[in-house]
Amino acid sequence: MRRSLLSSVIGFGALNLDKIYRVDKIPGRDEEGFVRDLQIFPGGSAANTIVGLARLGLRTAYIGKIGDDAEGQILLGDLRREGVETRTVIRAKGRSGTAMILVDDSGNRAILVDPGVNDTIRYDEIDLDFSREFDLLHLTSFICKNGLDSLESQKRIVKDFKIVSFDPGMPYAERGLEDMLPILERTTIFLPNRSEIERLFGMDYRKSADKCLELGIQIVAVKLGSEGCWIRTEEKEISVKPFRVRVVDTTGAGDAFNAGFLYGYLRGKSLEECGKIGNYVASLCIQKIGARSGLPSKIPEKL
Ligand code: ATP
Ligand code: RIB
Repeated sequence: MRRSLLSSVIGFGALNLDKIYRVDKIPGRDEEGFVRDLQIFPGGSAANTIVGLARLGLRTAYIGKIGDDAEGQILLGDLRREGVETRTVIRAKGRSGTAMILVDDSGNRAILVDPGVNDTIRYDEIDLDFSREFDLLHLTSFICKNGLDSLESQKRIVKDFKIVSFDPGMPYAERGLEDMLPILERTTIFLPNRSEIERLFGMDYRKSADKCLELGIQIVAVKLGSEGCWIRTEEKEISVKPFRVRVVDTTGAGDAFNAGFLYGYLRGKSLEECGKIGNYVASLCIQKIGARSGLPSKIPEKL
């Protein structure tokens, strides 16, 4: 099926300042680890994807919230530098989101998020006329520990868009299927990783994808870490091999995959090509520290 070319995406998710600690080990209960290095990067899952799409030349914007602190200014300034339109970034009193990310020598990772004001985005605060100018709405999860406003706004705003992509992350997978139905029923492209889709549906990812199609989702792309990705539609299923690279830090691998996959989709590429571009962008991401450091400004003609 030929799709028309689309060129603009608005993201809706958290904005976090990522503090990435390189550690000798990720400590378990009663254990101590050692910090080798600390680096600070702008992050937040949907924001990482939107920056990836902006670098690839698409028109992008972001619905998010920052606090009245230095972190908020860094997050906002960075989106602007990347060319992301920030009219729908709301300013509030309070703390901006931060994420404490531990990465060990093998690239394993643990994240602790302080959501700050991220969880408090009300639907009536969003500039909907401006948001609706965009072809596609991309959603990722909020932590939902400082309130449910942002999740409730996502459940409403999906009705304003014809094309919605959705990466649930573990925070939404853990909330359960019933809570996620209002979003899933309006989702066009579903972008979970394997554990998230299996957690959400309580069954193996292939059977879970059948359920997604029953809900009306058109494309399910499951991220399989070092095994690449698997894509399912009504017509077919495709496995796409990963690029073999040296892993430095997997922070944002899934977000980078989403950027590549959505770029392919919006440019009218076949699903196999979308998967390849997703794996390619993710492979560049994981070779550098930070979720956005490796994101490219060009996709080679031949991958
Ligand atoms: P994250 O939560 O770290 O952002 P995720 O858990 O959502 O990521 P993963 O399945 O771990 O998603 O990885 C996303 C994509 O990154 C994979 O589909 C694959 O393309 C790429 N990837 C991850 N790990 C590797 C690896 N070891 N080698 C090559 N590619 C990888
Ligand atoms: O997916 C990676 C992102 O998850 C990080 O940028 C961090 O902010 C966390 O929310």
